[in-house]
Amino acid sequence: MESRSIPLIGDKFPTMTVSTTHGTMTLPDAFKGRWFILFSHPADFTPVCTTEFYAFQQRYEQFKALNTELIGLSVDQVFSHIKWTEWIQENLGVKIEFPIIADTGAVADRLGLIHPGSPTHTVRAVFIVDPKGTVRAILYYPAELGRNFDELLRMIRGFQVAEAQGVAIPANWPNNELFGDDVILPPPSDEKTAESRRGMEGCLDWWLCHVPTKK
Ligand code: BEZ
Repeated sequence: MESRSIPLIGDKFPTMTVSTTHGTMTLPDAFKGRWFILFSHPADFTPVCTTEFYAFQQRYEQFKALNTELIGLSVDQVFSHIKWTEWIQENLGVKIEFPIIADTGAVADRLGLIHPGSPTHTVRAVFIVDPKGTVRAILYYPAELGRNFDELLRMIRGFQVAEAQGVAIPANWPNNELFGDDVILPPPSDEKTAESRRGMEGCLDWWLCHVPTKK
């Protein structure tokens, strides 16, 4: 039997055709040239998930400004997604504008979103995929804890700054306790570079250097 693991960070996001509230889409090509966040939730019409959809929609324009699309997923049918998002619009005053995958279990199985202890529900998880279709981050959460969507915005910003500047991103950036909104130079790869960093402005040592974020 073919053994196939779930995609890991650095792997290509597997090509798959999905049914969504916006019609059929083929991932990751549907979002080629853009970042996308695929997030799974346990089920429609559940309280924490409802707060999550509200929170995501509230930030949708900020994600789009970062060239990032959103796509939800659960093992519910399209009509259930539609009824639930109608409820959200009627009762919470927010129209959910991003697509939601109606999965039969095949997509969740391929992405490792089903816990054997609860095979009818997807876990709360997030895949962040870059414009070339490469998985850049995978996050898992417990059912009882809603996600922090500002952290997802921070991660997208962090990836984009890291890529544009060839740097790494410190803890709690852009509010790092040591370096504020500065970013970190990657460790030197040879002695000459290490030597050049001794005493350099922004270096606490040759292996710990920070530089301003380019605005
Ligand atoms: C919720 O979204 O409220 C939820 C879903 C599954 C288990 C517990 C809570």
